[in-house]
Amino acid sequence: MKHLIAPSMLSCNFLDLQHDIEIINNSEADWFHLDIMDGVFVPNITFGQPIIKYMKKIVKKPLDVHLMIVQPERYFQDFKDAGADILSFHYEASTHLHRSIYAVKNLGMKAGVVLNPHSEVRLLEDVIGDVDMVLVMSVNPGFGGQKFIENSYRKISALKEMILKHNSLALIEVDGGVTFDNAAKLVDCGVDVLVAGNTVFSHPDPIEAIKRLKMLK
Ligand code: DX5
Ligand code: ZN
Repeated sequence: MKHLIAPSMLSCNFLDLQHDIEIINNSEADWFHLDIMDGVFVPNITFGQPIIKYMKKIVKKPLDVHLMIVQPERYFQDFKDAGADILSFHYEASTHLHRSIYAVKNLGMKAGVVLNPHSEVRLLEDVIGDVDMVLVMSVNPGFGGQKFIENSYRKISALKEMILKHNSLALIEVDGGVTFDNAAKLVDCGVDVLVAGNTVFSHPDPIEAIKRLKMLK
């Protein structure tokens, strides 16, 4: 499968959200990546379901929602109602991971589990056949524009190996510090979905940036 691109709207211009949504609609991007932060699980607060509901009216691509919140299961139904297509929540915020994965799936969304940089891939071995996606954080979550953590390559390779061993269909998504310099290596390690905030929105031509991430040339 050709890798997918999911621009992170955290780095867009919120004063002109509609404009930036149209850019992604008209680009080669595959998904919209939406970062939901609660100021507790991570030291930052972003936006929630009401904003997503408005975005859903004009987006032409799936909404990939990344929850960085405590007790994420309290909000699964709300994010479904707001229009999430893929809903990912953190391993570190989940007491009953298996139950939560099926709660998301039973609501009709794809279920993703997110690993912080310190969480080992093998923690997911017993649910790798149940999840639709594993999101590997390659920075500590909370902010856009941070530096990529090099150990992420090793983690992604180990995750790919685990997925193949278990005949799992889970996609691998990587999030944080993705640039033109590391994107090709990440895809070589097994990444299916590249999230990119700063690399897309700080580029003078975001459509061109997305094209470059897609082509990897
Ligand atoms: C960080 C978020 C990321 C972030 C990525 O907590 O999960 O999605 O927006 O931004 P860049 O690509 O700029 O590192
Ligand atoms: Zn994210």
